[in-house]
Amino acid sequence: MSWDEAFANRYDEWAAHMTADVAFYTELARAADGPLVELAVGNGRVAIPIARATGRPVIGIDSSPAMLRQARARAVDAGVQLDLRDGDMRDLALDEPAGLIYCPYRALLHLPTWADRRRTFERVAGSLRPGGRFAWNAFAFDHNSAVRLDGRRQDEPVPHAFRFSVGENRLDIVTESGAVSSMWWATKNEWLGLIDVAGLELEALYGGFEGEPFTDSSREYVFVTGRRG
Ligand SMILES: C[S@@+](CC[C@H](N)C(=O)[O-])C[C@H]1O[C@@H](n2cnc3c(N)ncnc32)[C@H](O)[C@@H]1O
Repeated sequence: MSWDEAFANRYDEWAAHMTADVAFYTELARAADGPLVELAVGNGRVAIPIARATGRPVIGIDSSPAMLRQARARAVDAGVQLDLRDGDMRDLALDEPAGLIYCPYRALLHLPTWADRRRTFERVAGSLRPGGRFAWNAFAFDHNSAVRLDGRRQDEPVPHAFRFSVGENRLDIVTESGAVSSMWWATKNEWLGLIDVAGLELEALYGGFEGEPFTDSSREYVFVTGRRG
């Protein structure tokens, strides 16, 4: 289990600082020809503005019933159409190939093993139209940050502590109530390997959502890939 249901309770607060990604994914959605799909859609934080900006429904897949409930309610409030599906991204299967599949807010890091990610990437590649794109972002792998965070407690935005497992390259966020969200960090080469084995092509690796080049000081991987061939 990499995402406790209890995280849904204050997700709005957790995610309040994360806004820079919305315009980035919205531009990709505007350019996409064909269905739009968000993996690990959560409460619709990104899918709702995309549906509003494009006037098109977004298919949102998530394995958390509590997050999906929030997404459903927020979509109704916003007056947009989301096609929400309770499911695991590792089992992605679409009736119609997608123009854009995207996975914001580092959610691919919730998959514990390389095999889980490979399976997800292969499913994504098999679910894209010709010319379709797959985009995601994740923390740049950085042992120094992990070591600094290990054991640290923070009150904002919701009281929590970090725990770093070197052996598992896993960072846990643990709330006061004991709910755990785990992220398994991946290196740039792991991401490039996944792109390769899945039959995707790297279009761009940015260091941020403004399209900054990825450099040694970048702390985020922002990947845009396409279906090969
Ligand atoms: C950090 S939230 C991201 C939510 C949303 N994409 C956003 O950007 O705000 C992580 C989400 O990943 C979902 N999740 C974790 N593992 C999953 C899996 N294997 N398949 C589908 N969803 C998953 C959780 O339920 C949670 O809603």
